[in-house]
Amino acid sequence: MLKVNNINQYYGGSHTLRSVSMQVQIGQCIAVLGRNGVGKTTLLQCLMGVQSIRNGSIEFNGQDISRLPPYQRARLGIAYVPQGREIFSRLTVEENILMGMATQSGSKAKKIKSDIFELFPVLKTMMNRRGGDLSGGQQQQLAIARALVSEPKLIIFDEPTEGIQPSIIKDIGRVIAMLRDQGNMAIVLCEQYFDFAQALADTFIVLSRGEVIASGDSKQMSDPSIRQLLSV
Ligand SMILES: Nc1ncnc2c1ncn2[C@@H]1O[C@H](COP(=O)(O)OP(=O)(O)OP(=O)(O)O)[C@@H](O)[C@H]1O
Ligand SMILES: [Mg+2]
Repeated sequence: MLKVNNINQYYGGSHTLRSVSMQVQIGQCIAVLGRNGVGKTTLLQCLMGVQSIRNGSIEFNGQDISRLPPYQRARLGIAYVPQGREIFSRLTVEENILMGMATQSGSKAKKIKSDIFELFPVLKTMMNRRGGDLSGGQQQQLAIARALVSEPKLIIFDEPTEGIQPSIIKDIGRVIAMLRDQGNMAIVLCEQYFDFAQALADTFIVLSRGEVIASGDSKQMSDPSIRQLLSV
């Protein structure tokens, strides 16, 4: 479904991703783990096309998408929930959600499907509030809703629990588990909250200085050797 083959990425002269490979199938969740500053967000941005790779390739459903701009990847069914959420703070909740539907055409694009409010009931009560007036947790739910209304086949989460209160972390965990169990999308979950990632992931990779230094089945995640790579 998603297949990343030996990609390299540079910020100017600094070699940030070093021959990174990973894959994830539909119905599965891969956790991208690693300490601060190792290149996790950069990797996710390369998947979405926000950053470009120097070489290697990214395949999505058998198609090489390495050189496609973000909007074309979105049309193919890739959605991104960025680190820090990136809500449009001056737009309403409803307008933020509609932004997520911008890749759809025709009448389908005009109405927000009600199932999104079954996942996040709080958003329904806040449709006319400005995004910037929501709490961090509510903004995270809004960012996830905005991604889901595009009906993605691949959804990419960048540290969805960062700075979020525990009760909302639980809600978000339930939603990601449900998406995984529905079996119609693949999930890339970048996370530093180990237990959260382990509960959701089928497989994992650990990045260090832009390199994959460990990978495997999520059962192996709790090996002391893996935990050692993540502890600060
Ligand atoms: N736009 C940029 N221009 C130049 N360097 C950057 C840019 N974005 C990130 N970097 C650098 O690239 C490296 C990887 O950053 P990245 O944000 O991908 O790490 P991360 O693993 O997501 O970190 P965190 O856990 O803090 O979110 C860091 O050294 C960072 O300073
Ligand atoms: Mg990051």
